[in-house]
Amino acid sequence: MTDEDKNEMVVTPWEVRGKVDYKRLIREFGTQPLTDELIKRIAKHTGKLHLQLQRKLFFSHRDMDVILDLYEKGIKFVLYTGRGPSGPVHIGHLVPWIFTKHLQEKFKTKLYFQMTDDEKFLVEDELKLKDTINFGYENALDLIALGFKPEDTFIIFDVQDIDLLYDIALEVAKRITFSTAKATFGFQESTNIGWIFWPAIQAVPCFIHAKLTGENVPALIPAAIDQDPYWRVTRDIAQKLGYYKPAQIHCRFLPGLGIGGKMSASEPETSIFIIDPPNVVKRKIWNAFTGGKATAAEQRKTGADPSICTVFHYFLYLFEEDDKKLKEREKQCKAGGILCGECKADLTERINKFLTEHRKKREKARNIVEKFRIKR
Ligand code: TYM
Repeated sequence: MTDEDKNEMVVTPWEVRGKVDYKRLIREFGTQPLTDELIKRIAKHTGKLHLQLQRKLFFSHRDMDVILDLYEKGIKFVLYTGRGPSGPVHIGHLVPWIFTKHLQEKFKTKLYFQMTDDEKFLVEDELKLKDTINFGYENALDLIALGFKPEDTFIIFDVQDIDLLYDIALEVAKRITFSTAKATFGFQESTNIGWIFWPAIQAVPCFIHAKLTGENVPALIPAAIDQDPYWRVTRDIAQKLGYYKPAQIHCRFLPGLGIGGKMSASEPETSIFIIDPPNVVKRKIWNAFTGGKATAAEQRKTGADPSICTVFHYFLYLFEEDDKKLKEREKQCKAGGILCGECKADLTERINKFLTEHRKKREKARNIVEKFRIKR
């Protein structure tokens, strides 16, 4: 691959690389920017804004305004999000899940969470079905460790729960042509036919609440914007099936520790996994790309650039809740008052503290996974 190819922006559900231009994605995907006005409307219901909204990490939507219109008229919604279990969870995956939990608490909604062990088996050449099923179970522990409650959170493990999904998947699949699927997902002659059918399965949880409860309400999907192609095709057919179009609220990608792109399991040295021990976290962060200068003396003199620094972004997304302290770090960085080594050491400490606690909670979750299954 040439350097030019590497820098070119590619955002699909299976690959994100290059410098991500979020304004361009809004235009090309045909979504709406999350305006200050809409954010204020959300705050009317949630009280204090969640940091991810306040910091504009969620930046785009489809029909969030419609969801609020309906909610204000007394029609509730359900939340839907998910995970493709191809390996251990990394901290980027937690970004939309943490926000989902906030929405669930504030709007008192049910959450359907899809664990797509089938998708990852079809898409990843080297993975066996038993691997993805096992990762699905392990990844569910990470979700539960964030504090979701079994009374209103339903984890769908696709392979085990296919009996609940298959009839709706068929209704969806019958209404999406190969030419639409090809144009939306870039399928080729060499794509296996399981993968070509598969998007019908990711559509199902948008509608499953109606099937399970008889209550036809819209779904709101918090996720990073890479998943949007699924919703484009699902929205096109929803009303033909008698359902609301699913709405979305999209977040930016937590960057990897290298230059450009998102944190991605396919680049393990620039990703921080939940299972990474403290020395591995330390090594990865120590090697991170920052906005620093070649020498400490130069940086003290001319300052650094936090806007391109991955370490600063981790504080922004997840590891500095205090706005004043974040601003101060930014200011000091620009002025050369703080060097990259200090930020890296602070971040390493915070991430390791978080991961140590998280891992304790995920072990406890092993006892309660079954409570999150949909009862027959
Ligand atoms: P997956 O496993 O690729 O990603 C799981 C969720 O994490 C988001 N994400 C990120 N968010 C912030 N920063 C990053 N670096 C980052 N990387 C990934 C993804 O957008 C996603 O929300 N096919 C899906 C599984 C799925 C799903 C869904 C996801 C099924 N139904 C409904 C979202 C909503 C997948 O493979 O996700």
